[in-house]
Amino acid sequence: MPFLEMKNISKRFVDVVANDRVCFDVERGEVHTLLGENGAGKTTLMNILYGLYSRDEGEIYLDGKLVIISSPYEAIKLHIGMIHQHFMLIPNLSVTENIILGLPSSRGFLLELKKAEENIDNISRKYELRVDPKALVRQLPVGLRQRVEILKALYRKTDILILDEPTSVLTPLEVETFFKIIRRFTEDGLAVIFISHKLNEVMSISDRITVLRGGNVVGTLKKHDTDPNKLAGMMVGKEITLSLDKPCEKKGKRLLEVRGLSVNSEKGGKPLVNNVSFDIHEAEILGVAGVDGNGQGELTDAIAGLQPVSKGQILINGMDVAHLSPRKRIERKLGYIPSDRQRVGLVVDFSVAQNLVLKDFRDTPFSKQRFFLNRRQINTNAERLIKEFDIKVSHGNEKVAFLSGGNQQKVILAREISGKPDVLIAMQATRGLDVGSTKYVQERILEHREKGGATLFISTELDEIIAISDRIAVMYEGEIIGILSGGQEIDLERISLMMAGVREQKTKKSVS
Ligand SMILES: Nc1ncnc2c1ncn2[C@@H]1O[C@H](COP(=O)(O)OP(=O)(O)O)[C@@H](O)[C@H]1O
Ligand SMILES: [Mg+2]
Repeated sequence: MPFLEMKNISKRFVDVVANDRVCFDVERGEVHTLLGENGAGKTTLMNILYGLYSRDEGEIYLDGKLVIISSPYEAIKLHIGMIHQHFMLIPNLSVTENIILGLPSSRGFLLELKKAEENIDNISRKYELRVDPKALVRQLPVGLRQRVEILKALYRKTDILILDEPTSVLTPLEVETFFKIIRRFTEDGLAVIFISHKLNEVMSISDRITVLRGGNVVGTLKKHDTDPNKLAGMMVGKEITLSLDKPCEKKGKRLLEVRGLSVNSEKGGKPLVNNVSFDIHEAEILGVAGVDGNGQGELTDAIAGLQPVSKGQILINGMDVAHLSPRKRIERKLGYIPSDRQRVGLVVDFSVAQNLVLKDFRDTPFSKQRFFLNRRQINTNAERLIKEFDIKVSHGNEKVAFLSGGNQQKVILAREISGKPDVLIAMQATRGLDVGSTKYVQERILEHREKGGATLFISTELDEIIAISDRIAVMYEGEIIGILSGGQEIDLERISLMMAGVREQKTKKSVS
């Protein structure tokens, strides 16, 4: 009988089955990892265990007894603790105050605080989770805030500790220390559930590994019976369909050249984009694969001029634009489909017609004088693009806020592509879209390629990247750790390994 057992757990959201009859168990003294790509259903499963989500089906057994967990309060009572990807601490309170927050107190607050400080000190000594109990949380770097979260869970006497992608906020060195701490937990009899998508980490810390894909359990394996290759295959699935047509294939002029580009973090530490170089030629799509948050957003924002460049060059058509305004870059024929449609890509309170001219609205032919907008031109432009890009609206004056995600994306696409850019940056261009809109966006991008444009295509969906790209760069922790080109080099397992930070040997010519 396992210590904790989740049986046939299902959870549906409006248009997605996040967990489909998932079975998962964990023993005391064990690290059981949940491995899977973004969206596989890992967090959902654990949110159910922690009482944050209600399950649609299934049962949870603790020590063989059926338990109903309908709130985190109940989870905590059962000694289940969860550290979320995003911390939930109050910045202006001290470490100790944060830890005891919400606990019933029998004595006065000051006495309680004193007692707690001692207690925390003991726990932190025991597990070497060192942090000053009197420090204000806002003064602590993220790595230490995570410790506070863990201390908070331990303070409530945790038997089962859920860590949701805990290493994403840590540097590689901190990860090592962190793993030692986890080992101490398991030696002490805790059951640890570790969530990750990084294969090398998973191989290093786990006793057992359960792979989730699309809400289903692909398999549960002992670490000793598997290897990163096998896990990568399970994680992404083998059945990739190259459904999109890709005709022409020859290299012409370099339209975009990025040379040694770095973007520093405001908080200091490792650059968010670290010495990145690549070229994109005429009629070429360079795909960028990588787990979300490895610098892709900063890279595209830097190219578009929305994020300052710390070092390096960005050449569009041979001209360095690295320090030009976004507007000047647009004039040099750059188009940008940002990942955040509603905040960066559109002004949702403006009409479709206005959004379609958003970046040109101070230019002729849309304004006769500086601020006088030529309504007729704007409307004709809108009518043409609405038709051409099949945007589902009754008229051009409809507010963009009322459009579906797919139609909002079409508005951006229409605006960016109709400007006939030489270089198009597509950042998560199909994220959150339904199948039809996804295909539409992809086809338009391929059309841009056929017309000779260069495209930088960033996505976390590996299938899509493989289907659409001529070459694939893999980003990991701000760096491009390899660029693979066509045919047999583009191998799913190889890419997934690189996405997990496993570098190719330098001798291979694929690293350019
Ligand atoms: N609160 C929610 N509302 C709607 N959909 C959700 C919600 N939480 C998760 N999902 C969806 O469920 C799926 C699984 O998500 P999640 O469990 O967060 O995956 P993972 O943690 O493996 O990245 C995704 O498609 C996600 O969009
Ligand atoms: Mg998650």
